[in-house]
Amino acid sequence: MEKEKLVEMARDINKRAYVPYSHFPVGAAILHPDGKVTKGVNVENVSFGATNCAERTAFFTAITNGYKKGDFKAIAIAGDTEDFLPPCSICRQVMAELCSPEMPVYLTNENHEIKELTLRELLPYAFTDLDM
Ligand code: THU
Repeated sequence: MEKEKLVEMARDINKRAYVPYSHFPVGAAILHPDGKVTKGVNVENVSFGATNCAERTAFFTAITNGYKKGDFKAIAIAGDTEDFLPPCSICRQVMAELCSPEMPVYLTNENHEIKELTLRELLPYAFTDLDM
């Protein structure tokens, strides 16, 4: 699948975000090796710390649906933002657990431009191992 299509899927799904507090919708779309896509949105809570980001919603849904560590070819993240919207650091850590450091992460902005980074670029020196 072309990255443009994955990015547009992330943009389309952000309309379903539950964001009564921030009014900041985010959508994520993960491409799997079988060509299927798992999507997620941010789901907020009046107890703010209970909020779940779009990226983690997508990863946790994928795991629930049977995908395993390594079954993640790329992720696209889209808000309605002027600048490229990067994943928060908790979501980067979840990606470090489940994805290759070489996995492409596609960011986008309101002009539909795409910035492509690897997970390694987003999270160098990741904590991934207890056997240190
Ligand atoms: N948010 C995401 O869903 N993903 C990100 O990468 C950044 C932040 C959400 C959390 C919260 O619902 C809103 O955006 C504002 O922080």
